[in-house]
Amino acid sequence: MRAKRLLASMLSFALCSGAVPSLCASAADGQAAATAAVIMANDTSAAVGASAEADTFGMIIGNNKTYTVNKGSVVTINLGDVNFDGMIDANDASAILVAYASMSSKDHTSVFTAAQTIAADVNLDGKADSVDASCVLSYYAYLSTRGTLPIESFLKLEEMMASTTTTATAAKTTTTTKTTSTASASKTTSTAAAKTTSSTSSSITTTAASTTGKATPPLTASSATTTTTAASVTNTSTSSATTSVSKTAATTSTTSTVSSTATSTTSSTTFLSSTTTTTTAAPTTTTTTVTSTATTTAYVDPYKVHTIKLSENVLKLNVGMGGISYVTMLPATADRREIWSCSDESIAVVDNEGWIVGKSEGTCVVTVTSFNNPAVKADIKVTVCDPNKVNAIKLSKTEMSIPIGGGDISYVTMLPTNATNKKEIWISSDESIATVNDEGWVSGIREGTCIVTVYSRANPAVHESIKVNVTDPNKVSAIKLSKYEMNILVGNLDISYVTMLPKTALNVEEVWTSSNPAIATVDKWGNVYGASPGSCIVSVISKANPSVKADIVVNVLSRTTTTTTTTTTTTTTVTTTTTTAPYISSHIVQNINGVTYVDGILIVNKTYSLPKDYAVSGLNANALAQFNTMALDAAQLGLSLKCSSGYRSYSYQETLYNSYVLRDGKLLADTYSARPGHSEHQTGLAIDVNSIDYTFLNTPECAWLEKNAHKYGFIIRYPKGKEAYTGFSYEPWHLRYLGTATATEVYNSGLCLEEYLGISSAYAN
Ligand code: DAL
Ligand code: ZN
Repeated sequence: MRAKRLLASMLSFALCSGAVPSLCASAADGQAAATAAVIMANDTSAAVGASAEADTFGMIIGNNKTYTVNKGSVVTINLGDVNFDGMIDANDASAILVAYASMSSKDHTSVFTAAQTIAADVNLDGKADSVDASCVLSYYAYLSTRGTLPIESFLKLEEMMASTTTTATAAKTTTTTKTTSTASASKTTSTAAAKTTSSTSSSITTTAASTTGKATPPLTASSATTTTTAASVTNTSTSSATTSVSKTAATTSTTSTVSSTATSTTSSTTFLSSTTTTTTAAPTTTTTTVTSTATTTAYVDPYKVHTIKLSENVLKLNVGMGGISYVTMLPATADRREIWSCSDESIAVVDNEGWIVGKSEGTCVVTVTSFNNPAVKADIKVTVCDPNKVNAIKLSKTEMSIPIGGGDISYVTMLPTNATNKKEIWISSDESIATVNDEGWVSGIREGTCIVTVYSRANPAVHESIKVNVTDPNKVSAIKLSKYEMNILVGNLDISYVTMLPKTALNVEEVWTSSNPAIATVDKWGNVYGASPGSCIVSVISKANPSVKADIVVNVLSRTTTTTTTTTTTTTTVTTTTTTAPYISSHIVQNINGVTYVDGILIVNKTYSLPKDYAVSGLNANALAQFNTMALDAAQLGLSLKCSSGYRSYSYQETLYNSYVLRDGKLLADTYSARPGHSEHQTGLAIDVNSIDYTFLNTPECAWLEKNAHKYGFIIRYPKGKEAYTGFSYEPWHLRYLGTATATEVYNSGLCLEEYLGISSAYAN
């Protein structure tokens, strides 16, 4: 790559440095324009064809051969150095191509002196042509890779190599002659060359004899202008010893194109030259296109490393692990000793055989250099990872609320569990609110919120945070209510009991408001009074900390007529109330010996309880008979319906409920287990079928009951989506016997029993 750039810059420099123009200028300066060259060489291969001789020398000595020219002087020629600047380079190749293009044109004009023609014929085939240009360019590429052979030896070696192929073909020659005009005043057109070259050859002297001869009147020396541009040079290669150069140029009416390609294992050169001649004074327009291709294989020094190939250009290693990238030095005949180095030995080290060992996490570059040719190197990008480094942190809590003076901790798990360094760094975003010690213990300082973050000491990019809320223990920070929704009849009262938190709060005074006192009013103790049908929100705030608030949704149900008759006999008390609920126009609520009947249906829920001494002997006989019939019918379909829980006594329900409270807490237990006195199971009218958990949901029995239970007088008492009305979670297994007519009516209404009867289900406290 370095050599490639070097050659490119050299070539570009040479072509811009005026080497070619000076050559052309010297040709243009030649005085004896019409004299044909006579070269007598003692080597016939050096004979040169129609050359515009302009030398003042009598004798030319070139590469151990002596050439005599007409004046008898002596000059030394170096093959290839056609511009006599002591270098054999792209300028010479360019000049040879220009001369060749000129010679190939219809009028065979040569821009070379005899000495230049000899110097140009580097392959000694008697012609100065594109093959010579190609040879010069190959040789130049070879020199750029520090080659030391003289051009003659280089070309001989190249010839000797078995793979050498040389083709020089005049691929296409087109000559068009067309008379377009007769005499006219001479006009000079010059087209400038392109960006990277300025091959301003200017007025090349031509003679009538060297043109078509049909010109009338004949061209004079000053009547023609030739613009010559070395048009394009491209050289690419896969090896490190290659070059890349390009140039472009403009053209006009007469175009002579010569292209030459030189390829080898180390270099590939494409050379394209365009010579454009515009002759407006002439009556004849001549178009000549010559395309010539030469392919040669460049010399490769068998004892010099030119390429290093690696099996891996990128290596990933763990700390303590080793790896290798296998090296191939080319050519195989060269001294292939390796020199290894590493850009950062704290990350990885490399031994003399190229074995690389990871030392610590990071990236570095390991380089192998040819001992034989230190300009040739290859790099391996090495990434070292530490598999035992913390890459994640898990916290037992990501939020905490602590009082001023109090504290809390979130337990840390550093992952992976086999990480070698699990040390923590703790930082609080605001130490005036909460501090944190090295073990992660967070202490509340003053009211407010801040973020406490734990970092992995080994890998601080890994961190997790805790949102810390520091509260004043003397100040209310939250309000808990016994109920957040209430359904009350117009004229009735209800209450939701308040707990101000924390329990250490000094001022627990409540402030109650109603969003719409026309629907429900609330007094300073939280008693909600149904004023008129509708819904509103009743709120309670802490007087000491008004930002702390809790809301209750209040639905007030209308009461069309209320007739209360109390009949007292020795054993029975009956209270009858007629109400209008939003769902069904009118219901009769009766309380008989503490048991509630709505429209004659025995009701037990969170609002309506059974007396403690209420007792039946077991499952209701009708309910049991119907269940058995249903089970038999289901069995016909391959379904199995079993009673898992039927009648429960008050004390059994009490034991059951208390066990759930112990296990899950009261709040949660109240969502799925009825308090003693509030369970339908105490009536003998409820049956739990099969599994009393949600595995039942996935059974065909569940699906069948959903569609058929009402036909046998049962309803699914706590349906899905009706939790707000029933007060309990969905229980697909809990059946309530109502009798076939009522059950079917409820089923068809799509309502739950509370909705159907216009009643609430909520504990008073
Ligand atoms: N699981 C129902 C609500 C009960 O305990 O009666
Ligand atoms: Zn049940």
